[in-house]
Amino acid sequence: MLAPQVEAPFADPFFELALLGRAEHGPLAERLLDEVGLDVEYRATGILRVARTEAERADLQRQYRWQSARGLAAEWVDSDDLGRREPLLSGVAGRLLAGGLWLADEGQVRSPRLVQALALAAAQRGARIMEGTWVVRLCVSGGRVTGVQTPSGTVGADSVVLAAGVWSPDLARGIDLEVPVQPVKGQVVSLRGLGKRPRQVIWSGECYLVPRPDGEVVLGATEEEGNYDARPTLAGLHRLTEAALEVVPAAGGFVVDGVWAGLRPAAPDRYPIIGWAPGGEGLFLATAHYRNGVLLGPLTGRHGADRILAGTPPGEFAPFGPDRFI
Ligand code: GLY
Repeated sequence: MLAPQVEAPFADPFFELALLGRAEHGPLAERLLDEVGLDVEYRATGILRVARTEAERADLQRQYRWQSARGLAAEWVDSDDLGRREPLLSGVAGRLLAGGLWLADEGQVRSPRLVQALALAAAQRGARIMEGTWVVRLCVSGGRVTGVQTPSGTVGADSVVLAAGVWSPDLARGIDLEVPVQPVKGQVVSLRGLGKRPRQVIWSGECYLVPRPDGEVVLGATEEEGNYDARPTLAGLHRLTEAALEVVPAAGGFVVDGVWAGLRPAAPDRYPIIGWAPGGEGLFLATAHYRNGVLLGPLTGRHGADRILAGTPPGEFAPFGPDRFI
């Protein structure tokens, strides 16, 4: 999902960054379709965030008020109208649900396709992608990071970008740099609705259901701190199933296509760490995107390239520099 609004209980510099991140995706999808012929399935299908309790309703109404005052697309849906907006909610609207917040500009993209299309576009421009080759350590010479060492040799570089997600701290530690990133595991179930599927993303407090253009419905995601094991578990699937069936009982008839898990890289304040490593000349950090790696990836990439190649200032990334920890 490309979902800055639904995840923002208040406006702060991160919210502004996330909105900029979302705005990158439409034009990028068009460019990738044009350049490499892949549809990355960017769609502005919107998100319906539902309230299950009076307390959630009060929070969402506050979110609705400040976001619409900012001129962002945000609409309040009374519980009686939820079923019209989303037929799969008609059985529970009013009984279990206390209204919802409709965010029409939130979007989605098929992330594996986005990565594939970006890799093809980069290769067309001369990038060499070494798949299945891990980085063993950062190379340092004269107090400067000068490249990376892999099992098949050293790759030299004027600048190295550390974007290794939850594994970023391991590589940084090799040059005595502490990068405070921990995993927050998220488990996901891939479903097929067989004729019945949500019209838009349905997001409750405990889960989300994302209808993909090809009929898949993605049910996510758990939040498990400090867990480096990226395999799905029975308990994780149980939690997701329970949360989904609470708001969408019809999902009980959905067919399970697959399950997977990912490790979100999270800093202590849950904000990204973007900028030149203090004391590690030649090393640029682009990590800790937590729940927003796909949302912010294109913006971080363009920003990092400008900083490295043209020496531009941090701008809107200034609050998210590594100096706040290191
Ligand atoms: N971006 C959604 C998640 O991390 O679960």
